Amino acid sequence: MTQKILVLPGDGIGKEIVAEAIKVIDVLSADFGLDVELEYADIGGAAYDASGHPYPEDTKKKAATADAILLGAVGGYQYEDLPRELRPERGLLAIREDLDLFSNLRPAILNETLADASSLRPEVVAGLDIMIVRELTGGIYFGQPRAIETNESGERFAYNTMVYKESEIERIAHSAFKIAMQRGKRLCSVDKANVLEVSELWREVVIRVSAEYPEVELSHMYVDNAAMQLVKEPKQFDVIVTGNLFGDILSDAAAMLTGSIGMLPSASLNASGMGMYEPIHGSAPDIEGQNIANPLATIMSVSMMLRYSLDNAALAQKIDDAVNKVLEQGYRTADIYVDGMKQVTTTEMGDAVVAALKA
Ligand code: IPM
Ligand code: MG
Repeated sequence: MTQKILVLPGDGIGKEIVAEAIKVIDVLSADFGLDVELEYADIGGAAYDASGHPYPEDTKKKAATADAILLGAVGGYQYEDLPRELRPERGLLAIREDLDLFSNLRPAILNETLADASSLRPEVVAGLDIMIVRELTGGIYFGQPRAIETNESGERFAYNTMVYKESEIERIAHSAFKIAMQRGKRLCSVDKANVLEVSELWREVVIRVSAEYPEVELSHMYVDNAAMQLVKEPKQFDVIVTGNLFGDILSDAAAMLTGSIGMLPSASLNASGMGMYEPIHGSAPDIEGQNIANPLATIMSVSMMLRYSLDNAALAQKIDDAVNKVLEQGYRTADIYVDGMKQVTTTEMGDAVVAALKA
């Protein structure tokens, strides 16, 4: 049966990198029997420009019937002065919440050929393969109450609420333990239980869930130490599970271990396996329209989509192999370029992946 992919290019470099991922999907359809139908909609600043809202009704409707969603990125300088509720980022948070995409998988894998592009010594990062499981629809990002207010003496103050229900911790813990079972069977839960009650509960629930996964070796780490350990000795990690805010921060750090934030795909899944797939980097408005962005994270997001939502691991593997091949052949966008390699544009990188797929 034809599966429906909703494509949300978004803002900044989003449109450019998504276009390359679509080339890949088109080849898989034309030459390898992939049976999908693409539908497009707006999100973020592009949606605000078109219809006055970062997550418009039309997008919401299309999302509700999609088997999977491919997203570019949201955000841009021109939207920074909009009221919070209309900013591009709200569109992203709204679709995550709307579809209950609580389980965010962010793999940090160092392609061997890119060890030189990392800012860390090659021996520290060679062979790196970490999966960060970030809770995506709870915690301080969504907790109520939240506001900026003015007190009696006229001073402004602001607050957010970091809150997790047991059920929210349980379901993300199950996601993480299941992934650990398919990998190295080691799970590190990251929290701030020495300071925060919400982390105390987090830790207690993760330990409780661990009883159902006796084969997985569970450890706990405070987030400050985890940030340090990620850059000191990143290969000690197999799977990391953490809350929304900590996961946002640690996944950017983990991304850089791999040489460039332009190399990391992600999956955001709900309980039924429906998912949204996006590169973890942002819209990079500073390089928009220059045809220099790295499309590989988006292309690898399509691979994750095939694996996790479209039940087609064979074609996912084809994409991964093609990406490895172009890197071995020395093709590099500016962000991963090192001396002696072939520097290519966004579109040339997409073409190279397509050629590798067809070869
Ligand atoms: C990410 C991004 C988003 C987040 C922003 C754009 C709202 O940084 O996906 O990591 O904080 O979740
Ligand atoms: Mg982030």
